[in-house]
Amino acid sequence: MRLSTAITRLLGIDHPVLLAPMGGVSGGALAGAVSAAGGLGLIGAGYADPSLGWGSDDWIAGEFDKAGNRTVGIGFITWALDKRPGALDAALERRPAAVMLSFGDIAPYAAKVKDTGAALICQVQTLADAKDVAAKGADIVVAQGTEAGGHGADRATLPLVPAVADAVAPVPVAAAGGIADGRGLAAALMLGAEGVLVGTRFWATQEALGHPNQKALIERTGGDDTLRTRVFDTARGLTWPKPYTGRAIRNAFADEWHQRDDDLRAEGPALRERFFAAQRGGDTDTAVTFAGEGLDLIADRPAAAALVEGMVADAVDAILAAPDRHVRVADEAEG
Ligand SMILES: Cc1cc2nc3c(=O)[nH]c(=O)nc-3n(C[C@H](O)[C@H](O)[C@H](O)COP(=O)(O)O)c2cc1C
Repeated sequence: MRLSTAITRLLGIDHPVLLAPMGGVSGGALAGAVSAAGGLGLIGAGYADPSLGWGSDDWIAGEFDKAGNRTVGIGFITWALDKRPGALDAALERRPAAVMLSFGDIAPYAAKVKDTGAALICQVQTLADAKDVAAKGADIVVAQGTEAGGHGADRATLPLVPAVADAVAPVPVAAAGGIADGRGLAAALMLGAEGVLVGTRFWATQEALGHPNQKALIERTGGDDTLRTRVFDTARGLTWPKPYTGRAIRNAFADEWHQRDDDLRAEGPALRERFFAAQRGGDTDTAVTFAGEGLDLIADRPAAAALVEGMVADAVDAILAAPDRHVRVADEAEG
C-alpha cells in the first residue's frame, strides 16, 4: 500500500516519510535504509564541524558511502554552514537527491543547491519564515513544531502545519515534531501536509548512530521527561542564535545547569572536556540525548525499514478505518 502525495511525486519516492537529518545520529546506514524502504533518508551533517567528532568533509563522504547505492539527501544547520560553506560543496559532489537547510537564511545557498538538481528542503518554525523560504525557492517546506526533538522554537505542530500549508501553497509542506507512528502521519496529511519529517522515532532504530545507552534511554523515557534548553549547547561551546533551543531528555546535568548558562560558561574548558567524555562514553546522566515529545510512543528499537512500512500501513488503516472505529459521521441527531 502506498500513500501518493505531492512530496512522493516530487521526490520520486514511494512513501511520504522523510528521515530527519539528525546531526550525528542519521548516518548513511540509517538514511540508506529509509530510502530503501521507500521514504527518503537525509544524512545529518549538522554543524559540519569536525571538532564535535562528526560532520567533517571526510565524515560526510564516508556516510554517503555507507548509504550504498541508495538515493539519499543531506541536511545542514544553516547558520553553522555560514562558517564552513565548503561543506555544502563537498556534499553536492555526491549528487544528493535533496539538501535540507534549517535554522538560518537560505539565500546564500538556495540557487547552488537547486542548480545541481537536488530538491531544496527548508525547515522552519514560524509562518513568517515559511513565507520567506518559499519566496527564496524552497521545493518543500518543513513546518516544525515545538514538540520536536533537537533544536526548534515555540509554535506547536497542530496549528502551525495547516497555517504553513495555506501560506506557501502550491509548495508542498512536510510536518515535523511529535510524529512517531501511523496516527501521526495520517493526522499530518489531514492537516494539509504532503508528508512527514521524523526524527526521534528513527533515533531508536538498529541503524541509527549514537550510543546504545542513549537508545535505551529513548525507549524507557516519555514526553514528560523532555525539556527545551540551551544548557547542552553552552556545555559544548555552541552559540545558537535566538529563538532556538534544543529539546532533550532531562538528566542530572540539565537539572544542575538549566538556565544557569553563565555559571556553566564560567566553569571553563574542564567542564567541556568532561561533557564530551560523557558523550563519547554514553554517560546519559551528563551527555545530551536530544529527543521530542513523541517519546511516549517509542518502546522498541526496530530496523528502520520495518518502521517506515509499519507507519505507512497504520496511517492507511487510520485513514480508511477511522469511520468504523471511532468516528461517526451522522447527518441527523442521534437518539
Ligand atoms: C537527535 C536529534 C538531532 C537533530 N539534529 C538536527 C540537525 O542537525 N539539523 C536539523 O535540521 N534538525 C535536527 N533535528 C530536528 C529534526 O530535523 C526534526 O525537526 C525533528 O526530529 C522532528 O521532530 P521529532 O523528533 O518529534 O520527530 C534533530 C532532532 C533530533 C531528535
